[in-house]
Amino acid sequence: MHSQDQISRIQRTTNTLYDLRDHTDVLFCKEIADFLIEKAGGAEGLRISTQEFMALVVSRFVTNQGLIKLMADKFGKDLQIIELGAGFTPHFLNLSTEIGKYIEIDFEMNSELKREVTGTFTEKTNIIFVAGDFLLEETWIEIGKHIDLSKPVLIFSEGVVAQYFNAEQKSMIAHLARQVLIAEGSCFVIDDTLRNHSELHSNPIILEGMNRIATQSGSAVYNKETSTFARELENWNKLFDNTIYTIDYILSKPDMDFALKAFKLIICANDPKRELEPLILEQSKQNTKDRIWK
Ligand SMILES: C[S@@+](CC[C@H](N)C(=O)[O-])C[C@H]1O[C@@H](n2cnc3c(N)ncnc32)[C@H](O)[C@@H]1O
Repeated sequence: MHSQDQISRIQRTTNTLYDLRDHTDVLFCKEIADFLIEKAGGAEGLRISTQEFMALVVSRFVTNQGLIKLMADKFGKDLQIIELGAGFTPHFLNLSTEIGKYIEIDFEMNSELKREVTGTFTEKTNIIFVAGDFLLEETWIEIGKHIDLSKPVLIFSEGVVAQYFNAEQKSMIAHLARQVLIAEGSCFVIDDTLRNHSELHSNPIILEGMNRIATQSGSAVYNKETSTFARELENWNKLFDNTIYTIDYILSKPDMDFALKAFKLIICANDPKRELEPLILEQSKQNTKDRIWK
């Protein structure tokens, strides 16, 4: 039995899942949403996205999904993926290429629910759930037990670190994540956020959507600490001290192209021979031609 507070925390984490269910063909969204509705009730009233912001959410997911596939196709069973703040999105279940392992980190309650629901759709044993705070060293010690440092690691955090973390927390994440990005080909990937695009903030659609995120998420940082994309790029470059690539977002709802065309994933890559560069460039170019929206 979950407390009221736990239920509302579960409900707030279902936003991406609902947006993907309603506007894409990404598999397992409806099934996981139904599972969570049974556990914690519906949450339409708590939904964080406005009608327009769903475009940002689904583009973010599908852009990350494309990059995960690129890395999985390149490294296959050598690849180890760590998803920070995985919530309830179905990246692992949608992976069609075999990889080494996929590690999801989230707080205890979400982690347990995700383990339960994932287990009903797959018998694969290379999905690992680590419950804990990824800002703490002890959580990374636990993660480290599952990682082979001689093989590439892809770390990403969708709609969490870029969206809600302050400068000090970002610096902490970089410090902790660097410890596992040892093998060549390893990458830390961070998504974009309107916090990096103050040039868009005067637009009424953006203003309404950002205000809704600030109130619904309860974040003390979102809306208060803004930056520019260039500054953010420089910051991650400094924190990781390796090669930086960017990748354009895939387009979705046409009304939001004006914002999505400014959005890019940031990839901090341990790629001294620049082997990933042509693949990333090609995917970035393809994303500007593709559109997903239903
Ligand atoms: C806004 S949700 C995003 C979930 C998912 N990535 C998505 O795109 O829908 C943030 C998730 O990160 C988790 N989270 C936030 N801070 C965390 C931390 N320091 N350690 C572990 N999990 C964290 C929350 O519990 C929640 O599941």
